[in-house]
Amino acid sequence: MFGVGLVSLALALAPFANAASPEWGQCGGIGWTGDTTCVAGTVCTVQNPYYSQCLPSSSAPTTTPPTTVVPPPTSSPSGPTTTSVPPPSSTGFVKVSGQKFVLNGQTYPLVGANSYWVGLMGYSTAQMNQAFSDIAGTGATTVRTWGFNDVTSPNGIYYQLWQNGQATVNTGATGLQNFDNVVAAAKANGLRLIVALTNNWSDYGGMDVYVQQIAGSADHDLFYTNANVIAAYKSYIKTFVGRYVNEPTILGWELANEPRCRGSTGTSTGTCTTQTITNWVSEISAYIKSIDPNHLVAIGDEGFFNEPGSPDYPYQGSEGIDFNANLNVTTIDFGTAHLYPGSWGETADPTGFGTKWITDHATSQKAANKPVILEEFGVTSDQASTYTTWYSDIISTGLTGDLIWQAGSHFSTGDTPNDGYAIYPDSPVYAVESQHFAAVKARG
Ligand SMILES: *[C@@H]1O[C@H](CO)[C@@H](O)[C@H](O)[C@H]1NC(C)=O
Ligand SMILES: *[C@@H]1O[C@H](CO)[C@@H](O)[C@H](O)[C@H]1NC(C)=O
Repeated sequence: MFGVGLVSLALALAPFANAASPEWGQCGGIGWTGDTTCVAGTVCTVQNPYYSQCLPSSSAPTTTPPTTVVPPPTSSPSGPTTTSVPPPSSTGFVKVSGQKFVLNGQTYPLVGANSYWVGLMGYSTAQMNQAFSDIAGTGATTVRTWGFNDVTSPNGIYYQLWQNGQATVNTGATGLQNFDNVVAAAKANGLRLIVALTNNWSDYGGMDVYVQQIAGSADHDLFYTNANVIAAYKSYIKTFVGRYVNEPTILGWELANEPRCRGSTGTSTGTCTTQTITNWVSEISAYIKSIDPNHLVAIGDEGFFNEPGSPDYPYQGSEGIDFNANLNVTTIDFGTAHLYPGSWGETADPTGFGTKWITDHATSQKAANKPVILEEFGVTSDQASTYTTWYSDIISTGLTGDLIWQAGSHFSTGDTPNDGYAIYPDSPVYAVESQHFAAVKARG
């Protein structure tokens, strides 16, 4: 049997390991120096060359893993080859240095996927672990997720309850304790998290709930200017961010998913400009730094440029975002861009538009000398060929990193949410991701 053979090999390679790794814990991979045996009832299972994990015996595959990932007995157990680097350590905080992310003095390759849903759907710890294990199987280092769900009546998992203009953070099992489980599962799978703290869109509450509850208005942009709304958002940040100040599994905080002047309602005061949102970015990012000096801070915006008169909608500044001005804010550590040609009217040559978008953001990255990541991107047809091109553009332009929209898992209870973009482990795109992530790691 595979399990028996692997245990013998592991003992031969690491004679001093004497404690067993826990269920879901790491038990091997290039550069791994920890325990290589698994507690009873679990089997050390190769996920990728960098990561083997103790999976319940019932869920571990019975087929032998590819022999190429098992080093021959005579080779050094910890000597990485010229084309591979060890997985990032789970201790230490990810920082920035120039245009790179760094961890404990080494380049941190920021590659991975979005899983907004992992802490919102009421998934069990085992399901969270499977979701993260599927993502880690691509060689990913990083996952972006939602750290919010604003509701007006308790229902399922929620992080903040609003009643009569008053907000109460849910610290119980259906609230922050559930997010604690998300963090633990990410850590167990060797991943770090980028966490967005509210949403432009009305999914899962977000900005419009604050504005409605406090200002009794549908004007979306009051989120950025109303003093009471700003105070309420800071209060949420203080509780949520404050809980994880010393947790290295958090890579960074994001001010909002896709902030814009207008929200789902489409209404606004008519006074919101790029300056409005840049001012808000300065204030909120500085506030996060004041309570959490350990973690990076980014915006979570789409990366729109502010070039009025441009024929391309994402370059016109019309949604209130000026990517270059925001990247200049000193308390913003890295820039974020999204890429959805189909939603932005770029239908003539969506792939070519993406190449230009990546190239222009890499130019901003170099000018500001800060990392920039393509933190969401998606098409719903020709995915493998389009992403192969964009991944190649990321390497050739030197863009710092990327997170695909979005990860997917096949749970025994059914699939994780799919908006047409989800990549499940049996998708051809899964291998495209793996190759690209290896290329980013090799870039150093
Ligand atoms: C913001 O949300 C509103 C609806 O909530 C939507 O109309 C608008 O396009 C959204 N913008 C972004 C960038 O998400
Ligand atoms: C960003 O800062 C640089 C350097 O100070 C400056 O040249 C540039 O004009 C700024 N960009 C924006 C959009 O504010």
